[in-house]
Amino acid sequence: MAAEITIKVNERSWKVAASADTPLLYVLANELHLQGPRFGCGLAQCGSCSVLVNGVETRSCVTPVAAVRGKSVTTLEGLPAWYAARQKLSVTPALHPVQQAMIDEQAVQCGYCYNGMIVKASELLAKNPRPTDAEIRTAMKGHLCRCGTYPRVIKAIRRASKAMSGGAA
Ligand code: FES
Ligand code: FES
Repeated sequence: MAAEITIKVNERSWKVAASADTPLLYVLANELHLQGPRFGCGLAQCGSCSVLVNGVETRSCVTPVAAVRGKSVTTLEGLPAWYAARQKLSVTPALHPVQQAMIDEQAVQCGYCYNGMIVKASELLAKNPRPTDAEIRTAMKGHLCRCGTYPRVIKAIRRASKAMSGGAA
């Protein structure tokens, strides 16, 4: 039965009418009209629906909306502001450095997987600013790309890591 649930998404509170077990992805897409998290497998297998919940990458397709009550959800749309808050920047950049690096490396092909990839890579660099290639591969292994862009994803994450550390990309 639908009930009113308050959730915090991209630093804003929203009241949504939903059953407690409605997947968070459906609420984000259908109620809040956010295009960042995408429906891929619906089974927590591909990563295209990933969001951050309290800074931790979470598959929104299998997360009941009630599970994020009292927590902070960040979608792709909120990543630049999330980054600016973490880094204590006075100005929010238009793009998170991972987004910029994906553009600079021309990493994207069809793009379907990329919103989730960017969310995951942002989580990785927040925890581990200078990951090795092996650490990048391990972190990203749950994100499937049917276009096979994995080598470019790794290059872009390396580039973002350098940029975030103040080094030349
Ligand atoms: S749609 Fe959620 S992991 Fe594939
Ligand atoms: S770029 Fe097409 S699925 Fe990854």
